[in-house]
Amino acid sequence: MLLSRSKSLLGLDIGSSSVKVLELKETKTGYQLANFGVEPLPHETIVDSTIMNAPAVVAAIRKLISANQIKTKDVATSVSGHSVIIRKITLPLMTDEEIASNIQWEAEQYIPFDINEVNIDYQRLESTSDDQGSQDVLLVAVKKDMVNDYVAVINEAGLTPVVMDVDAFSVQNMYEVNYELQRGKVIALVNIGAGVININIVHNGNSVFTRDMSIGGNHLTEEIQKRFGVSFDEAEQLKINGSGDRKAEIEEIVENLSQAIALETQRSLDFFIATSSIGHISQVYLSGGCAKSPRLAETIQKQIGIPVEVVNPFNNIEISPNKFDMDYIRDVGPLCGVAVGLALRRVGDK
Ligand SMILES: Nc1ncnc2c1ncn2[C@@H]1O[C@H](COP(=O)(O)OP(=O)(O)OP(=O)(O)O)[C@@H](O)[C@H]1O
Ligand SMILES: [Mg+2]
Repeated sequence: MLLSRSKSLLGLDIGSSSVKVLELKETKTGYQLANFGVEPLPHETIVDSTIMNAPAVVAAIRKLISANQIKTKDVATSVSGHSVIIRKITLPLMTDEEIASNIQWEAEQYIPFDINEVNIDYQRLESTSDDQGSQDVLLVAVKKDMVNDYVAVINEAGLTPVVMDVDAFSVQNMYEVNYELQRGKVIALVNIGAGVININIVHNGNSVFTRDMSIGGNHLTEEIQKRFGVSFDEAEQLKINGSGDRKAEIEEIVENLSQAIALETQRSLDFFIATSSIGHISQVYLSGGCAKSPRLAETIQKQIGIPVEVVNPFNNIEISPNKFDMDYIRDVGPLCGVAVGLALRRVGDK
């Protein structure tokens, strides 16, 4: 994080069910919400984190910009899913220049894609090992194709992407500004959206494990759609608002799929616990639209036996009730974890 108050960016989260824009203003004491909007995307605009219908994304961004009178052009955005590879690697002690010139070569052995097809980035980590001669570095590789697709829609909408982040790290940024750092404790940030679950396990402010899984709220909606022979949008309404005579059946579907999502989440957490010496996870912080489902939070807590709390991305952020509808903010809050994290980014951040 830069210490100087550098120029703020527009946080732009292009999710598969909706686009979110969010701007924060830095104040003497912290942050204030300056601008915010959510625009739904038609079903299957983005599939498996891949943009299938670019004009629909461009239209949604444009609509948000004009409806919210957004003037900021420089954008922080993020990607997630299987085109993003994040690995903690251990390197011999090197200067920043040495890392920069070696990282491509080092990365080659950890990245399952052709090294020429990915953009590589890295960040030094606080060392966890006792070995004085080595250092931990977080390696991030994102497929160029994917980056290019996101950059293209943002440019097409008249904006300039300046920072390209990863959803899991944006959620961590959002968490850090809103909650006290719990030294020594291991926490899991679990962001459950429509198409992807982003898991980020954090220890002393460092990300120690991340995993994205292609499962999310769409699976519940699609199951309801199939069972009742309704459109996706109708199924979405049934999922969120329930329906008199179909209530029990919908609840059963939500229950079963929540169980499946909880199991997938548990598998990732178990993998981390089995392969890491850092210690047990003391708390799960849930974000993403699915965190609004009380059944899901409950199921995850029961399944993995770790306390689950739904994150409030605006916990430490000042919101003027004169400017924003507080009920609406409370309602959509859980969807905004990534967008808040992105809006915290500044030009020139690493
Ligand atoms: N009240 C609710 N109860 C249950 N599910 C909900 C509720 N509100 C929203 N959702 C679900 O949350 C999901 C959208 O969440 P979110 O906005 O975090 O996803 P996204 O960012 O668009 O998608 P991605 O997975 O690509 O990141 C949808 O599947 C939606 O049905
Ligand atoms: Mg999302």
